[in-house]
Amino acid sequence: MKILILSSGGDAPGMNRFIWELYKKFPNQTYFAYAGFTGLVNGQIFPLKEVVRKELKDEAGTVIKSSRCPEFKEEEVFKLGLENAKNFDVVVILGGNGSEKGAKQLFENGVNTIFVPATIDNDVNDCSYSIGFSTAVKEAVYAVENSIKSIEAFNNSCLFEVMGRDDDSICKEVSKIVGADYAVINKKTLDFDELKNVVLKKFIKSQSACIIVRENIMNIEKIAKKLNDSLEMDIVKTHIVGRTQRGGKPTKEELLMATKFAKETALCIKTKVFGVRILADENKEIVVKEFA
Ligand code: F6P
Repeated sequence: MKILILSSGGDAPGMNRFIWELYKKFPNQTYFAYAGFTGLVNGQIFPLKEVVRKELKDEAGTVIKSSRCPEFKEEEVFKLGLENAKNFDVVVILGGNGSEKGAKQLFENGVNTIFVPATIDNDVNDCSYSIGFSTAVKEAVYAVENSIKSIEAFNNSCLFEVMGRDDDSICKEVSKIVGADYAVINKKTLDFDELKNVVLKKFIKSQSACIIVRENIMNIEKIAKKLNDSLEMDIVKTHIVGRTQRGGKPTKEELLMATKFAKETALCIKTKVFGVRILADENKEIVVKEFA
């Protein structure tokens, strides 16, 4: 059995644990495509044992590298990837929504694929948990809790931008954990006058407003300027949490979930169950579903 693995899209903490666990089950049969679909298309395919290292199993990032490959949607590019994928008995694809589409398309063209949700955004359909989410939330909470101490020292308020692309999962979870005074999870939840009042009330009480904003909604610098101009003070600061959410040390839950996803993937490989997505149900139990 020849197994190919690739990680695609934004890297997610926990990918390395998944890769390690799968490698342990099939040490001499597993290959990887370098940097996701890009490597698959370019034929950059190597034995996994050349790069995998036990000491990376608890680290963020992905030892087999990742990339965004929008060109994979183009017919000619897809065909190149398809040809290389056909040299394998199964192709395991780690990533988010876009990667799932690639996995499905390869399957529909005769490749035995298995898709595994790995994205901090936690936005894979029918799936309560994707590898990376817990760590991304932990890192964002850490950034907010630490910055807010300094913000409080000046009675300032702060807009914190968290990642999540077009999904509100990280924003909601972080807001809940830090007890945010205001959360902007989508455009509709941004009421400028309401936000200004929150900031003002806190300022009057010598306190600070902690405001969590999902990325891709608005430019937080502009909103802070608008608030400061309208309050005629300079009390609203900004903090973009950014990529530390992807690079943080994986949480215990992350490592556990990545291990569970890997065990189920290995079982599917052994029992020749292909054309599937390995998902987490509402209780975070692993379930296997066919491509929709
Ligand atoms: O998909 C994961 C993610 O971290 C999103 O939350 C974010 O929108 C995007 O990737 C950022 O991508 P990059 O690091 O390539 O700018």
